[in-house]
Amino acid sequence: MKALLLCGGEGTRLRPFTHTQPKALLPLAHQPILFHILDTIATTTIREVVIIIGPNGKPIMELLRKTNPWGFDFTFVDQPTPLGLAHTVLLAREALGNAPFLMYLGDNVLDEPLRPLVNRFVCEKPDALLLLRRVKNPRHFGVARIEGKDVVQVEEKPEHAQSNLALVGVYLFSPAIHQAVRVISPSPRGELEITDAIQQLITDGKNVTYHLLSGWWKDTGTIADLLAANQYLMKKLTPAVAGEVKKSTVKGVLRVAPGSILKNCRVVGPVTIGKGCRISGSTLGPYLAVGDGAEITDCHLSRTLVLADAHLKGVTLTNSIIGERVHINSQQKTATAHSLLVGADAVLEL
Ligand code: DAU
Repeated sequence: MKALLLCGGEGTRLRPFTHTQPKALLPLAHQPILFHILDTIATTTIREVVIIIGPNGKPIMELLRKTNPWGFDFTFVDQPTPLGLAHTVLLAREALGNAPFLMYLGDNVLDEPLRPLVNRFVCEKPDALLLLRRVKNPRHFGVARIEGKDVVQVEEKPEHAQSNLALVGVYLFSPAIHQAVRVISPSPRGELEITDAIQQLITDGKNVTYHLLSGWWKDTGTIADLLAANQYLMKKLTPAVAGEVKKSTVKGVLRVAPGSILKNCRVVGPVTIGKGCRISGSTLGPYLAVGDGAEITDCHLSRTLVLADAHLKGVTLTNSIIGERVHINSQQKTATAHSLLVGADAVLEL
């Protein structure tokens, strides 16, 4: 089996951060989303991964050429315009060959090993095995209707959902999907929907079955989901202090990468600090993840992602994402927390 990992798309709901980097490289608990996904794929026997990349996807290729602890064999396929999830299957036809495959949307994070699912797919040989999860807001997802072991209908973000079973962005397909993606037409939003291709399989009498996910799952498509996923994954971190921590109090889990110095800080974990950071006089956490090379002085930061090389002075932030190389300087010390989303290289005087 192979995997098809979708890292194209424009990530419009995650702007301004996706102006400067692909969505899959945004960090969750100090690791790119992409690495969490590859960790999950590595729980299966799959070793060949086809990755769809969009126009800003070059950093993904560069990173995976340098870092591949999973030993995957990667093939990259360009998608110049995000014409839909089923469009990526058309583009990857040659790279996938006649192998059955696991299709994984590059913004979905799961906390469940996929090996049992892949094993079931290999044993039962259906044409599609869909991952479903009960949700409160099915209108925001693809929605499935089931009867017994079969999926009998799927619809993309329906106004009136027929069930509360959302399609999780993880699917297993036999090569029959290649025929289905060729016959469908673009949806009202102008995309070739994978949901329509799955409906085509059902209409053609193919065997479409499902697995009901009970564990944690997040589509990190929006800022709120990204912060929520970060918090969930940070709860699983274990302490590891390689850098220096001086004259500070630490409660809960703290991770400090080599070359970083924390001085006169109050830490309430989970908190994770990247390499080569200089941090002093600050209250840190909970749920604070700081990227490499950041400098933080006299700040109060919680539930926040600070990306690499940001410089923060005198600010109180919560539920914020601070982009790479951002400089924020506040003259007035206020206890009121700001919630800021600041794209790369911005300079703010508060
Ligand atoms: O997260 C689960 C949902 O994902 C499912 O319930 C829906 O049925 C499915 O259509 C999908 O909905 P989204 O609206 O969340 O899909 P989105 O456009 O965000 O794309 C998902 C990922 O696929 C994202 O990481 C970008 C990538 N992508 C997207 C498109 C449209 C591509 O690589 N190429 C594309 O053309």
